[in-house]
Amino acid sequence: MLDELLEILVCPACMAQLDANFTDSSQEEGHLICTECARNYPVEGGVPQMLVDPDPERGAIAQAFGVQWKRYSHFKADGERQFLDWLKPVEPDFFKGKIVLDGGCGRGHHVLNSASFGAKMIVGVDLGRGGTEVARASTRDCPNAFIVRADLLALPFRPGTFDYAYSIGVLHHLPSPVDGFKSIVGKIRPGGHISTWVYGLENNEWIVRYVDPIRTHICSHMPPALLGYISRMLAIIIILVTRGIYRPLLSLKPGLPLFYKDYLMYISDFPLADIETLTYDHLQPSVSYYLSKDEFSHWFRELDLEEVVIGWHNSNSWRGFAQIPD
Ligand SMILES: C[S@@+](CC[C@H](N)C(=O)[O-])C[C@H]1O[C@@H](n2cnc3c(N)ncnc32)[C@H](O)[C@@H]1O
Repeated sequence: MLDELLEILVCPACMAQLDANFTDSSQEEGHLICTECARNYPVEGGVPQMLVDPDPERGAIAQAFGVQWKRYSHFKADGERQFLDWLKPVEPDFFKGKIVLDGGCGRGHHVLNSASFGAKMIVGVDLGRGGTEVARASTRDCPNAFIVRADLLALPFRPGTFDYAYSIGVLHHLPSPVDGFKSIVGKIRPGGHISTWVYGLENNEWIVRYVDPIRTHICSHMPPALLGYISRMLAIIIILVTRGIYRPLLSLKPGLPLFYKDYLMYISDFPLADIETLTYDHLQPSVSYYLSKDEFSHWFRELDLEEVVIGWHNSNSWRGFAQIPD
């Protein structure tokens, strides 16, 4: 039921309240109408479609992710551990009683984690239709979890709505990552908190130089089935190398400086299907930025955020946590 969500959801164009008009008692289908500008937002399958003046580039990026989420709708067995690794120093108790935003929720597995950690309300927002459909299907039994289709750059919430917002692996896929960060921060109340995780530039120069041209010019245009097949082959190679070579070598000599060791060993226990998903996730997007620590830290400084904790994750990515000034 969307009643609770309607207490915080507003028109993304003018921030005015919405009138709801549902065609069924379970509030799965209907319309939300802006009380000021009269814009009409459909509700489809329980997901409000809060799109206003859609941007074709951002729309295409999210649509390609939607295809990915339909293809890989299964859940990771150890999603909770990974979720917390991305949010460090946040612990499960931190979620208790909070109104939380998941910015770019994809297939919604972090939405479920947030709910299980005790969030009072968790709202997963994604621009892709496929992502929001999969996320809604996964979370529909969770009474305090809501999925909304919207652009991170035109979020349908008033400033200061959320106690806490996180965005995992999303901002580096926006044409302007810092604008997405600013947009999310603007929706958090003074004294609330933000977490985000992005690809790092450091240690990923080889990806930028050799993999990025292949990703942007070839992989992102491939039929999903072909890219899925290639991702599966690469995932098998990753498993053979990590489990067959890296693990035995590292058990003999833990400090051995093997190529991309921290990340590869981190994923080495994942099931084949999850490594395939990760590989596809890296090869599919038409836009991926790799951000240096300086650039990432600047986002936090520019907005005068407080108690900033920037962490280096798996020696290939940056996570940041901070408080919004009072
Ligand atoms: C790599 S996925 C990460 C999904 C999820 N956070 C996770 O960790 O599994 C990036 C997600 O960001 C979404 N996305 C991309 N651009 C967006 C935008 N402008 N507004 C909202 N979501 C967007 C995509 O549709 C996709 O689901």
